[in-house]
Amino acid sequence: MAKERGRTAHYFDAEPSAPSKPTTVHVEIPDLAFDLTADSSVFSHTRIDPGTRFLLERAPVPQHGDILDLGCGYGAIAVACALRAPSCTVHAVDINARARELARHNASRLKLGNLVVHDDPSTVPNTLTALYSNPPIRIGKEALHDLLLFWLPRLAPGGHAYLVVSKHLGADSLASFLSSRQYSVTRLASHASYRILEVASPQKETA
Ligand SMILES: C[S@@+](CC[C@H](N)C(=O)[O-])C[C@H]1O[C@@H](n2cnc3c(N)ncnc32)[C@H](O)[C@@H]1O
Repeated sequence: MAKERGRTAHYFDAEPSAPSKPTTVHVEIPDLAFDLTADSSVFSHTRIDPGTRFLLERAPVPQHGDILDLGCGYGAIAVACALRAPSCTVHAVDINARARELARHNASRLKLGNLVVHDDPSTVPNTLTALYSNPPIRIGKEALHDLLLFWLPRLAPGGHAYLVVSKHLGADSLASFLSSRQYSVTRLASHASYRILEVASPQKETA
């Protein structure tokens, strides 16, 4: 966290006012290698976050439908999904306007016509085959729960969300919370302190 004009700045500020200092983040995972432009006041702007890398190494990607990167930052997850699933449309949202601009710039530089960055979350399709997130734990538990309960109901039947969360930042309590809301939560993988939670929609009652 940095200080901006006497207040604490966060990576989830809607309109960061810190001067722009562009950086390049090299992403290398078993099947892909690409460079992304990042910047100050955006999450993990000097290197890919280890949790994000772990998510990209382990979470499966569907080959049809609409996918969401919730809290896209400069777009590491969205770009990897768009490259891996060319027949899907990948949607990316973030509260941080600088992050959205970077994700848009990265999609365009990599010529990813199937990656759409939304300024207005209401323009994201209502039915998603998968949702990926390294969620913004730092916004606080209540805000995080509200955010997830806003997006998770859009999962299509059979669709899954993949959330990477550090154990120290409450992976287990997040899993319990989602289970208490009738989501089926499985620990897909764990490595060091990271957990990947695979979240499935509640089963719909059949008449
Ligand atoms: C832990 S960072 C992950 C960023 C990126 N996906 C990555 O892996 O590098 C969480 C992201 O969620 C964003 N965020 C915070 N609150 C949000 C909200 N209400 N809606 C959408 N994104 C939000 C933050 O701005 C931040 O970019």
